[in-house]
Formats: sequence, structure tokens, C-alpha cells
Amino acid sequence: MKSTKPFDLVLFGATGDLAMSKLLPALYRRDRAGQLPADGRIIATARSRLDRDTFIARVEAAFGDHLEADERTQPDWHRFFERLDFVSIDADTSGGFEDLAGKLRGREDRTRVFYLAVAPNYFVEICEHLNAHGLVTERARVVLEKPLGHDLASARAITEQIGAIFAEDAIYRIDHYLGKETVQNLIALRFGNMLFEPLWRRDWVRDVQISVSEQLGVSGRAGFYDRTGALRDMVQNHMLQLLCIIAMEPPSDIGADAVRDEKLKVLRALKGLEGQSALRNTVRGQYRAGAIAGQPVPGYLEEEGVPASSRTETFVALRTEVANWRWAGVPFYLRTGKRLQERAAEIVVNFRDVPHSIFGMAYDSGRPNRLVIKLQPDEGVRLHMMAKSPGDRMQLRPVSLNLDFAEAFQQRPPDAYERLLMDVLRGRLTLFMRRDELYAAWSWIEPILDAWNEAGDAPKPYTAGTWGPAASSALLAREDASWHEED
Ligand code: BG6
Repeated sequence: MKSTKPFDLVLFGATGDLAMSKLLPALYRRDRAGQLPADGRIIATARSRLDRDTFIARVEAAFGDHLEADERTQPDWHRFFERLDFVSIDADTSGGFEDLAGKLRGREDRTRVFYLAVAPNYFVEICEHLNAHGLVTERARVVLEKPLGHDLASARAITEQIGAIFAEDAIYRIDHYLGKETVQNLIALRFGNMLFEPLWRRDWVRDVQISVSEQLGVSGRAGFYDRTGALRDMVQNHMLQLLCIIAMEPPSDIGADAVRDEKLKVLRALKGLEGQSALRNTVRGQYRAGAIAGQPVPGYLEEEGVPASSRTETFVALRTEVANWRWAGVPFYLRTGKRLQERAAEIVVNFRDVPHSIFGMAYDSGRPNRLVIKLQPDEGVRLHMMAKSPGDRMQLRPVSLNLDFAEAFQQRPPDAYERLLMDVLRGRLTLFMRRDELYAAWSWIEPILDAWNEAGDAPKPYTAGTWGPAASSALLAREDASWHEED
């Protein structure tokens, strides 16, 4: 693909972990792929009083950890570092915005991107300073990292204040799950093939499972995480976005509004979980000490920075439905947690059982057909079906058709941020959340948080390195279902 138009990308929070481990490596890779124009500048900003050379030295060190050795080649290396500049900015005192303005002066006709990889309590302040310094040009865009608010009211407040400075179509709300290759492949699978669409409905689908399990704990971000919890950190955004892509109606095209209109309809059709129904259909957990891959790890309450009385959930499982003609009555099970047995993200569509078995006892093993869409660690699609096992008897066994994307395309799948950053520079909003989606997601999440608060009980403990509290399996067992955990 050809390179983008000339740009200035101003990166706030440039010394932070996200910038060093994801954003700058992603830009470097796209530069290597020839997608950044000669006149494309990256102006890094942070509160630290660094000079350009010291900042570059830090980036070089970080790249040593986050890029493969064979990616760190000349002349790419040199060209990328030539693009980098650094300005020290303190959003509290507004110091440094003048310097930034100086660097941007005379470049008003370039695409201008302000990427706010900072804590959300700085979003509004930074945007106001940018505005006050006349930096919000017609071609300016702002990129906001999650979390966008803590609840509906705070999400609205942030959105409205930023909305007074940037037009809605200049605001890019990042949900990096939408940038993952497999998520876009899911769109391709659903709408680029005729095969699945007739089956993609209540008549044929028994349940849908979306599961994102992590082995990592919260070390290093306990302060943030303890105020947030798994429901806000993962479900409100990533998991609901995945659910939207699975459940939405075919959009008329791949344009931003067509896709986002359909996602919004799904969010609005989600069966609300309130009061008793929230308590009955959700499970909260918190990890205790255990072992991950054979290594002992502390419990959540022992993590540095976590108050000993914390009731923050590090695990959540829930059951909901999409109340419309296509999906009425089909359970959508969502599960996510830290310090679980494996790192994996997948979507599983379980199809219904055959109505009658002609094979008698030789046919066992529950759900014969399931489609597993794997987002990580390996990306691919697996279709499980029953086949006869070799031999002189009619013995049936589950087997699977495997599509491994890396193998099929013989190519490293790009990181989510590579795709999303290029979309920002090209002005493509399809993979970013619109304001009404954000509100709809918070409106659905908030009653669950309220019900938990009112109940006032502690999350259920689970041992690190397991699949979460037993109640999570029980939630599905009620309907004779179970989490897909094999392979
Ligand atoms: C982030 C959450 O949005 O997503 C983290 O804040 C989580 O807590 C991360 O670890 C997971 O992303 P990925 O791409 O590693 O699955």
C-alpha cells in the first residue's frame, strides 16, 4: 500500500510503556514497509525534561526489547530516528505548548495527529491547551486511549468537553482489539463468504463464547487497575466490541458509519443485567497466590499498591443475550481474567446438536460443530466436526479443519497498533468507536456495577493459574454448556 500524506504526529506520553512497547515500534514497522512519507514527523512529548538525543537513546533501548534483530536494519533505522523530535510538556502548567507550537508553525496543511497516550484525566486539559495555542487545525485529529471514563457520566463529560474542541469525525477512540488481524478476519469470514451467514442465527447457534484470558497479573499498574477492575478494563470495551462484530447485521459497506451503525444496534439490543439478574448472570473473581507456568505468583491483595481490603475484580464471567430476531434466546457468554491458566483470546460459536443420533452409543461428545476464532496467541480459525474414526466400526470422533493465518499467508500478522495508526493517518474511522457506541456500552455496564456495589460482597477467590472461580463453570453448567478450553 502506498504511503500516507505528509503528517505531524504529536505523541503525548511518549516515555510511557504503551509508546515505547507498542506505538513507536508500530510506526517503525510501517516506516520499514514504506508507508510513511518523507515528510512525516513524530514529535514526542512527555513531562520529563529530556533532550532529543536522550529521548532517542531511550527509544533505541526500547526497540532492542520490542523489535526482532532482523527488523533493526539500516537505512530504516536511521530514517526513522531522523523523524523523531522531542518537546517537554507539562499539561498541568501548560509549559512546553509554546515550543510545540513553534515546531508546528507553517505546517498547517499537513495531517496533524495528537495521540494522547496518557491518563484520561489529562485528556481534556491537553485538548484545551492545544486549542488555546491555536494548534487544532482543520486537519487535526485526536486519538484517545481507553479508559474513556469511569462510568456513563464521566464518559459523557470527557466526550462533551473534547467534542467542543474536535469534531466527532476528528476523534479516534482506540480499542486495540479492533485492530487485531483476526478481528478483521472475522469481518471477512462473515461477510466475504456465503457459507456461514445462513447458519449465523438462533436456529443454528446454540451459544457464543468470548474468552480473553491472561497470565499476567497487575504488577506495575496496580493503582490504575484497582480503581478499574476487569469489567471496566476489558468488558466495557474489548469484549463488547468483539460481541458486536460477531452479532451485527451485515453493514451495507465497510465505511465507518455503516459499520458503527450496526455495532450500535447490537449494543442497544443487549439484554440488560440489573439487580438480581445482574447478580445471577455475572461472576466476579479475584486471584489468590498460585503458580503460572510452574512459577509461584502472589495473590492480588499482595501485589504492590493494592489495598489489603480491595474488592476489585480481576476476573469476570457473564451471560447475556442479544434481544433481536437473529439472536433471541442464544446465550452469549463472556469471560476474562488475569492470572489464568493460559494466555488466549478466542471466540467460539457452538452450533446446535443434531436432532437425533442415528449412531447410538458410538456418537457421544456433546456439541458436534463449533467454530473457534483464535485471536491470540496464534491467529486462525478452526471448524470442529464429527468424522468416522478409521476401523471396521462406525465410531465417530471430533476432528477439526484448521486455518492458521500465519501459515496460509506466510507473513507476520501486523500488530493491532500498526493498522490503527495507519488508519488514523489515512483518516479511516471504521475501526474506532463512535461516541454513541461508547455511551451505549457504558449504559449497559453501569447497572452491573451498581448491582455489585449494592450486594456489597467480595469477589470469589480463585487460585492463580486456574480458569477462575468455580462459579464461572457453574454459570454455563446451568444451561448444560461449558467453556471451550481444549486445544
Ligand atoms: C488493555 C488492558 O486494554 O488490554 C490490559 O488495559 C490488558 O489490562 C490488555 O492486559 C490486553 O491486551 P492484549 O492485546 O495483550 O490482549
